[in-house]
Amino acid sequence: MSACGLAPLPADGTAFERFAADVRAGLGGPGRKSLPPMHLYDALGSALFEAITRLPEYGVWRAERRVLERHANDIAACCQADTVIELGSGSATKTRLLLEASLRRHPVSYVAVDVSPSALEGTRATLRDLDGLAVTLVEADYLSGLERALQARGNAGRVLVLFLGSSLGNYAAGEASRWLGAIRRSLRSGDGLLVGVDLDKPARRLLSAYADPLGVTAAFNLNLLARMNRELGADFDPSSFRHVARFDPRTRDVEMHLRSLRAQQVHFARLGLSVALRAGETIHTESSHKYRTEELDALAAGAGFRPAGHWRDDAWPFLEALYTA
Ligand code: AVI
Repeated sequence: MSACGLAPLPADGTAFERFAADVRAGLGGPGRKSLPPMHLYDALGSALFEAITRLPEYGVWRAERRVLERHANDIAACCQADTVIELGSGSATKTRLLLEASLRRHPVSYVAVDVSPSALEGTRATLRDLDGLAVTLVEADYLSGLERALQARGNAGRVLVLFLGSSLGNYAAGEASRWLGAIRRSLRSGDGLLVGVDLDKPARRLLSAYADPLGVTAAFNLNLLARMNRELGADFDPSSFRHVARFDPRTRDVEMHLRSLRAQQVHFARLGLSVALRAGETIHTESSHKYRTEELDALAAGAGFRPAGHWRDDAWPFLEALYTA
């Protein structure tokens, strides 16, 4: 414990500063309260997300696994990558299918980028016994991790960037196109980008995926309050908030919120910040956009990518799309 009686600051000062800045910007002003979804993934949040992927109601993860189980050989043949860089590697269980298929063709090196050290440990454990695979772990946010990984590749070979699991859906529309543009600018002609996105489907299926009856997604969302208590010295009472999931069929966004059940004042001892919440006011914690195939293709084309392959799961509509730079 430090002199002020709080746990020591996280070792990575920049992660703390980023979290603090996002909290000030997202909760400190007069407008709609919101926080970037990346902060859902501390060690406990990453473990809870892993649990979500096993819920029968959350079809996203299994749909992508089925696509990769069926088509990893075709995808590897289309990509012919020497270096695979994954943004948000998580447990890498699905990635392993693609890496195995690639290694059957030729040697491959793999760079995992994730903000969560515990997720990177999971990546390492999943890939430990893959013979012939050189693995590098980069603890960073996606873009700075990608830059570091690309600097390390030097002049050699073709790169395939993986952005799986429908993580692109967690970006707002304008951000997603800026993000794809930033990836495109960092790649060389002939490099590839494999994106997995969840496709549009009936509201009923989506709402049970994001407000599951066991309350695992609720715990994943509420953990953000507990994380602010642990890391920023906040005094949230998680029992005075409720997890809310909504789907807007016009925007095709599922939104997760934390709704304050009463009027309350929250203090952040480490930030010198006080935040007032009205009864019923929400903190927006994540949007999860449900794509259409042509929408993703248009977004990728706008960023300067050419389409190189589509693979779909129909049981839980999901698209794996390959683009070339
Ligand atoms: C990581 N991301 C793609 C998940 C999603 O479906 O948007 C995160 C998640 N949030 C609630 N459940 C899962």
